Amino acid sequence: MSTSTSTFNRADWQQGYTSLATESSYWIEQVEGELPQSLQGTLFRNGPGLLDRNGVPYGHPFDGDGMVVAVTFTGDRAHFQNRFVQTPGYLAEQRADKILYRGVFGTQKPGGWIGNCFDLRLKNIANTNVISQGDRLWALWEAARPYRLDPETLETLGEEDFNGMLAAGQTFTAHPKLDPITGSWWGFGVQPGPRSVITLYEITQTGTLQQHWQRRVPGFCFLHDFAFTPNYQVFLQNPVNFAPLPYLLGWRTAGECLELKPNTPSKFLIFDRQGDLVEIETDSCFVFHHANAYEEGGRLIVDSVCYADYPKLEPGTDYKQVNFDQVVPGKLYRFIFDVERRTVERQPLLLRSCEFPTVSPRSVGQPYRYAYLGMIAQEQGNAPLQVLVKLDTQTGSVESQSFAPRGFIGEPVFVPHPESTAEDHGWVLSLVFDAARGCSKVVILDARRFGEAPVAVVYLRHHVPYGLHGNFTHRRWR
Ligand code: CO
Repeated sequence: MSTSTSTFNRADWQQGYTSLATESSYWIEQVEGELPQSLQGTLFRNGPGLLDRNGVPYGHPFDGDGMVVAVTFTGDRAHFQNRFVQTPGYLAEQRADKILYRGVFGTQKPGGWIGNCFDLRLKNIANTNVISQGDRLWALWEAARPYRLDPETLETLGEEDFNGMLAAGQTFTAHPKLDPITGSWWGFGVQPGPRSVITLYEITQTGTLQQHWQRRVPGFCFLHDFAFTPNYQVFLQNPVNFAPLPYLLGWRTAGECLELKPNTPSKFLIFDRQGDLVEIETDSCFVFHHANAYEEGGRLIVDSVCYADYPKLEPGTDYKQVNFDQVVPGKLYRFIFDVERRTVERQPLLLRSCEFPTVSPRSVGQPYRYAYLGMIAQEQGNAPLQVLVKLDTQTGSVESQSFAPRGFIGEPVFVPHPESTAEDHGWVLSLVFDAARGCSKVVILDARRFGEAPVAVVYLRHHVPYGLHGNFTHRRWR
């Protein structure tokens, strides 16, 4: 298997990992095509905005401070705004203009192991996702509490405790699921340990937090995402080992101490509404993201991007120099469970390396047909994500929109047309870094004509560093 016929230029790709230190707010002048009149609302996105402090790079892009982007569509115009989440760690490093905290994934403070040993402080960087409920907006990072923001100005209002329901030190996932039936966000917190504690939460439509259950499960849990259906919450317990000594001694970051146990099955933790647990083992694999889950004919279906190994960066290596041939590819699989008989069957859905699986917000937890993903442009091996994909999970057919060789895509976000009746009646929005211009753009695709020219492309005045996750709200915050 050779990936020497590269679909991208490394220097182009690296450019997207440049810090964006400035915050701005402006109406976008350059629009190609026509903005759909019915597309009204705000696309919120989150991701690391700073990849360095005073020229000293963070060791891993996941360690960069959260910067929230809001692109508001009014039907004929589009407005851009970005702002950093003003966490205490961010503010302290702003003042000092240097790295003061260790990052979870790959960043050490200056000073070698002596400078890092026994410093177990966590810097909440609020950089992974952003969700809204009514007039509230939260930036999320899974190892701490959400940060509340003003949805109009993106001003940071503080760490959220939901009227005392979420105590300091508690955690809340960066991947809550918006239940299309009730309008609640469902999320969880994990306290990892030799026995890990999982807590299920609901943020209701009025913004109050309710705790549904709390369960202790054997083994270390690294749970980035979960799958949600009306009757089940599903977690994949990756068979990882956490050997913390090198972290405690300052030799490695916490993320670098994770390892997939060889020849150990992965375990699905399937909780019902009462919090009763059924465990079902499957072939060893590692999962960050689930595309969706649903119940049908007595079966539980879960679609997930699986890796054959934990795709971590070797300590001390520069992520911008990563050898893509050695990065394990992500592949989309369907798991079909008979929960009562405790059986599972696994089927491939998309075998070319892919990530950022999403579905229509109306299909979350429900039987569905279309998944949207980011995919690599070459057929085999691994590379940066350059292609947006619409996958028909019934027929296996794929429609794609490629930005190779000089474009690098972000997570696709499906926005239903306000009068939609069909699942794919709507648009797919993605923030794409265009290395030819050194700037980012928001691409709007008609989801039913996915492979055709975009409906509109909105050109920003600058780049936005590669981001993580976000959501669209039909409420216009402008
Ligand atoms: Co994620």
